[in-house]
Amino acid sequence: MNQMLAKIDPAVYQIADASEMNSPGLIVYKDLLLGNLSEMIRIAGGPENLRPHCKTHKMPAVIDLLQDLGVTKHKCATLAEAEMLCAAGVRDVVLAYQMVGPNVPRLMQLMEIYPDVRLAVLVDHPEPLEQLSVAADAKKLSVDVLLDIDSGMNRTGVLASEAAFHLYEMICSMPGIRPAGLHWYDGHHRQSDLEERRAAILQALVPMTTLRDQLLLQGLPVPKVLVAGTGSFPVLAELGEPNLELTPGTTTLYDIGYREHFPDIPLQPALGVLTRVVSCNRAGHLTLDCGHKSISPDQPAGQRAFFPELPEAVELGHNEEHLVIQTDRAEHYSPGDHLVALPRHVCPTSALHQSAYVMEGGRLVEQWAVVARDRVITV
Ligand SMILES: Cc1ncc(COP(=O)(O)O)c(C=O)c1O
Repeated sequence: MNQMLAKIDPAVYQIADASEMNSPGLIVYKDLLLGNLSEMIRIAGGPENLRPHCKTHKMPAVIDLLQDLGVTKHKCATLAEAEMLCAAGVRDVVLAYQMVGPNVPRLMQLMEIYPDVRLAVLVDHPEPLEQLSVAADAKKLSVDVLLDIDSGMNRTGVLASEAAFHLYEMICSMPGIRPAGLHWYDGHHRQSDLEERRAAILQALVPMTTLRDQLLLQGLPVPKVLVAGTGSFPVLAELGEPNLELTPGTTTLYDIGYREHFPDIPLQPALGVLTRVVSCNRAGHLTLDCGHKSISPDQPAGQRAFFPELPEAVELGHNEEHLVIQTDRAEHYSPGDHLVALPRHVCPTSALHQSAYVMEGGRLVEQWAVVARDRVITV
């Protein structure tokens, strides 16, 4: 077992009385969540430097906690998440996605419903920019647009080159469009060694900061630069640049995947899945009710969950409604007994549940809706 996982204290995840809790069921450990929120604010050097991504939890209750802590800027990936943020009272939203197809009129609709929200989107190509400009201008609206720069992740964005410079000039010249700056998501830096990660992050950053400086030199406005995921935000926070906004998301609920990757980051997995034994007729085996539909299967087979109570358990099979594990302690369990599974990847796991049981001090205190798991709320 990984050393980082060995340090997970099973007592922290114990549930005093699960008799009224359905399984499989999402669990938020509020004490751990609150600890993570204050820790991420401390690492960022203050709430004003953060723009956390809400895709990890998709819960207005978490947004309320962040707002109470002074975090006023938020990031999202879908229009439903954007609508959730607007409805939760956030007035500065970056929807970090390029709007195409029907998402263009949906964005306009959202902007009309929330005229007091500063809503920004990403662009990395002239055609969607043109469509956005036509749609916004027709409605007499102004959309904030960030140019998405490819950080080397090779997912979206343009390389920080001459083409990027010209696209930003277009952003600055089109009706209905307000230049909002640059977007840089560098989630591919997974080096466990902090110094190796720091070197890779800072080296990759140079073309982007050079582009920003060239734009500023030409007199073009670059009001902000959005950077970072969980692995890079402690490094980029140290730069202390005033217009950098740090955009980690997994830092809120955290997970065992990142815990293994980043031993330097002092955050705790705050999200679990309550599961029960549904079959245990074979020696050394337990079959649990946490299949693909309650714990995301986006991680490699055999590595989808960790059981604080059974740290040595080996995952043998994961189907839609079942997870089969092997453990020397199987004989201590009977059908109906519960366990807590910590998913390796929380973001797609929370999307599988309508609501979460919220635990404080080992007791169930409330339930929170996972509002933005839906693709459409109203818009
Ligand atoms: C564009 C963007 N920004 C921010 C994040 C947050 O990164 P992390 O999950 O590493 O905290 C993600 C995660 O996928 C992302 O895609």
